[in-house]
Amino acid sequence: KLVDLRSILTFTVKLARTAGTLILEGSQAIQTTSDVNEKKNSVDLVTEYDVAVEELVKSEIAKAYPSFKFIGEESYSSGTRNELTDEPTFCVDPIDGTTNFVHGFPFACISLGLIYQKRPVLGVIYNPFLDHLYTGIEGQGSFLTRGNSQPLKLPLTNPKPLPSLQKALLAIEWGSDRGKKTLVPKSDSFLRLAGDPADGIAGGRMAHSIRSLGSAALNISMVAQGGLDLYWEIGCWPWDVCAGIVIAQEAGGAVVGSHAALAAATSAGSSIDPFKVTPDVLTGRKYLIIRAIPDTL
Ligand code: IPD
Repeated sequence: KLVDLRSILTFTVKLARTAGTLILEGSQAIQTTSDVNEKKNSVDLVTEYDVAVEELVKSEIAKAYPSFKFIGEESYSSGTRNELTDEPTFCVDPIDGTTNFVHGFPFACISLGLIYQKRPVLGVIYNPFLDHLYTGIEGQGSFLTRGNSQPLKLPLTNPKPLPSLQKALLAIEWGSDRGKKTLVPKSDSFLRLAGDPADGIAGGRMAHSIRSLGSAALNISMVAQGGLDLYWEIGCWPWDVCAGIVIAQEAGGAVVGSHAALAAATSAGSSIDPFKVTPDVLTGRKYLIIRAIPDTL
């Protein structure tokens, strides 16, 4: 039986703030060096800080909770592919928004999710550049805390229902997969979200506008906070969304392609890359995180 989620949250928040200090130091340093590596292509970036933050987090978790399993973006990239089990498992993106981190655009964060019995149950997302801390525990609500010494802690609750996509401020991401197979249908979806049907854009929904914060976890947090109505992305990884799923759901948001898809994708015999999200309803693999279900989706 999983013990005390509240004490795990206290530990995780402290860890996120420690990691945040390292992320800030790294951001200063990276502006003066060109120490940026590429993963699958020239826009899929990783730095020594992604690796260092993950190492720090992994070792602190192992000290505090030796029986917990660990899934991390950089461990996965370097070949450690732990199967998701029913055991408590931290699912970690050490720096979500690495491109922002490299460019000095202050929307990057650490995302620490805890999965138990294949369900995300706890999430901590910390943007050290803005000192925004998002936390959530399944069944216990989610919060945004600003400031450390005299923190202002706001509950993230009661989202306004969204009457239609037409009235929505929504987020999408370009992602790092820039091949034709992904980018053409993706940008067609962007066109339909933004376009004016009266001017011949078939299926155009003419949403209020579209944003890209450059971090899946921060897009999701912004939905939870109410600044965005919807976040849609094809091809997120579990560590991008695990913590955010708890935070958004606890704030009254709806998640499509959530832990059920995560569990299915990681079950034995799945022909899908086990750490990718399963294909979902509209246009291929995606996570769709919304504040309230619009009637015209
Ligand atoms: C990426 C960012 C990006 C999103 C990608 C993520 P990373 O994470 O969240 O906004 O479009 O799907 O993988 O590589 O910065 O950790």
